[in-house]
Amino acid sequence: MHSSQQIFQQVVAIDGPAASGKSSVARELARRLGFVYVNSGAIYRAITWHILQKRIDVEDTDCIAGALESVAITSSLRDAELCILIDGIDPAEHLRDNRVNENVSRVSRLPMVRQIVGRKLHEYTSNNDLVVEGRDIGSVVFPNTPYKFYVDASPEVRLQRRAAQGERDEIALRDHADFSRPVSPLVIAKDAHVIDTSHLTIEKVIDRILTRLKEIGLGPSRFND
Ligand code: DC
Repeated sequence: MHSSQQIFQQVVAIDGPAASGKSSVARELARRLGFVYVNSGAIYRAITWHILQKRIDVEDTDCIAGALESVAITSSLRDAELCILIDGIDPAEHLRDNRVNENVSRVSRLPMVRQIVGRKLHEYTSNNDLVVEGRDIGSVVFPNTPYKFYVDASPEVRLQRRAAQGERDEIALRDHADFSRPVSPLVIAKDAHVIDTSHLTIEKVIDRILTRLKEIGLGPSRFND
């Protein structure tokens, strides 16, 4: 349980490429720490879903700007996980549709979209300690957090993981788009702790992260006093 000595606004950043294992790790890590889990990719996916629902061409930036001005992007907490609502609707079941997979990199490279998501992520820290996973969380969104991890896995392992999830996801194409975009490309923040998850279980990855967090002063023990 959280004690009266709880320090608010701690952010653990978990960045990495698609299918690197960051969602499973970040969700469980948040549970162990008693933090809220935020999947920033899901926010980009929800916005992409909304744009596709509106039948807007993902290259039509004027139309996208108009749609973003009139949409209400809100959130709710479910089991200590942040869920995004678009005009009051929870699009969770559509976030991994093929058409969202195919278009999310094109939508998420737009500066106006990145600004909205960055602003939302900062808002969430006002009430909650967070574990946030994404691409630019340690490098751009929360550059001052000392708790930064970059999880990676070989392209072969990542493809196998997606196939095992029964998903069609052009990882190589998304990697290329995410690494090469001009705004907030996927980079390893210079002070991030890098973990290759190719041959590690989720449990082992979490162990490593918790060990590292403890070394730098953050861990479940701080809630026990
Ligand atoms: O984590 P994910 O694969 O669900 O993310 C979907 C897309 O969202 C990803 O291809 C790039 C984008 N994204 C981003 O640009 N920045 C983030 N912090 C998180 C995701």
